[in-house]
Amino acid sequence: MSNISDDIKEILLDEQTIKRKVKEIGRRVSKDYEGEDLMLVGILKGSVPFMADLLREITIPCTMDFMAVSSYGNSTSSSGVVRILKDLDHEIENKHVLIVEDIIDSGITLAYLVDYLKGRKAKSIEIACLLNKAERRKINVKAKYIGFEVPDYFLVGYGLDYAEKYRNFPYVGILKEEVYK
Ligand code: IMP
Ligand code: MG
Repeated sequence: MSNISDDIKEILLDEQTIKRKVKEIGRRVSKDYEGEDLMLVGILKGSVPFMADLLREITIPCTMDFMAVSSYGNSTSSSGVVRILKDLDHEIENKHVLIVEDIIDSGITLAYLVDYLKGRKAKSIEIACLLNKAERRKINVKAKYIGFEVPDYFLVGYGLDYAEKYRNFPYVGILKEEVYK
């Protein structure tokens, strides 16, 4: 087990648990998209560890691209305003797009993104997210692949940040309230 940081109240998902789940999602994606033109689209920066691990569990040919959006600033809940900071480098026409994201919280970011990409004639647009905070949903978004349902705590690690910190932790932990209050 990894060393727990002083800012973490509790480890919610340890390294092995995440690894097993990512393997399972990779297997499902490889089966579901066999023979298809698949492009993974990671949302920077939170998706980076999940993307890197998922990519290596996918056994069919695929490509990847990244987008960067901003909606949060340094606060712990969504501002409701989504800005595209970096668009895709590649066309998605006739491709199956799988958006790879760390967490769905209010759903505002992904609902906006799916809508934004809709006009580009992709064959399909689906979502793979590692974590789902279903009880916080404000807009209906459906992910085809969900790693874990998680409770409404502010989580960090494995890509998730608070003010850009903690992304490097190999586990997902609950951030102590005193760190952000
Ligand atoms: P949504 O638009 O509210 O669904 O927010 C999605 C984005 O908010 C994610 O990509 C994360 O960057 C961020 N986010 C939501 N919940 C958490 C959390 O518990 N910890 C860290 N970031 C979070
Ligand atoms: Mg983020």
